[in-house]
Amino acid sequence: IIFQESKEPSVLVANEIASLIRTKEAKNEVCVLGLATGSSPIGVYQELVRQHKEEGLSFLNVVTFNLDEYYPMERSNLQSYHYFMHDHLFNHVNILPENINIPDGTISTENLKAYCIDYENKIKALGGLDFQLLGIGRTGHIGFNEPGSHLNSRTRSITLDHITRVDAAPDFLGIDNVPRKAITMGIGTVMDAKRVVLLGWGNNKAGILQETIEGLISSEVPATYLQEHTNTTFILDEGASSEL
Ligand code: GLP
Repeated sequence: IIFQESKEPSVLVANEIASLIRTKEAKNEVCVLGLATGSSPIGVYQELVRQHKEEGLSFLNVVTFNLDEYYPMERSNLQSYHYFMHDHLFNHVNILPENINIPDGTISTENLKAYCIDYENKIKALGGLDFQLLGIGRTGHIGFNEPGSHLNSRTRSITLDHITRVDAAPDFLGIDNVPRKAITMGIGTVMDAKRVVLLGWGNNKAGILQETIEGLISSEVPATYLQEHTNTTFILDEGASSEL
């Protein structure tokens, strides 16, 4: 779906999430949300915060799983996704701290594998992700599933692509400060979500979105796997859709 700009669609996506939360609440069920970082979802989080403050949207029945985190990464670091999520969403709504899951960038290397398996198991134990919000990186990554990621990949550590580190460099005040690794949910984890919405704003995403939506499905552009997901919507502005 193509919109002129990003404000209106961000509100529509927030409305879909809010309505899912309310439907689950009415049935006394937990709502399991897969969340993303980056600039793309910020408008959605702003609208969810507004609905919490002005319309009483409650997050008490919400459990969240974030897609990824740099590795290694301290939680208190301004560049951490832990910081980002609290700053943009969690600090402003009534979600219970124990219901927030973000890959832990401080886990020791020897415990990392077991930690990733546990992250997957926690999602499975809740019946899977009801809704997964996504952005896209210029390499075609979703989460931090860089080119080469397998369709059935699960939560794991990954080496970041050079382009991804270049794109992150301004936030880290130079590429040398950008971590070389990350923990990310897998493509398989995302593909198991019952509903997926990918947001793409601006001209600099036009090329990769053209490949993602119209190209051959390939591990070289991991987001192309979404072509086979039966309940995915790409929500783009005019700039991001300009090469379709
Ligand atoms: C990072 C995140 C991705 C995100 C991407 C795009 O690489 N790990 O999940 O989609 O950035 O970020 P932005 O939305 O700022 O373009």
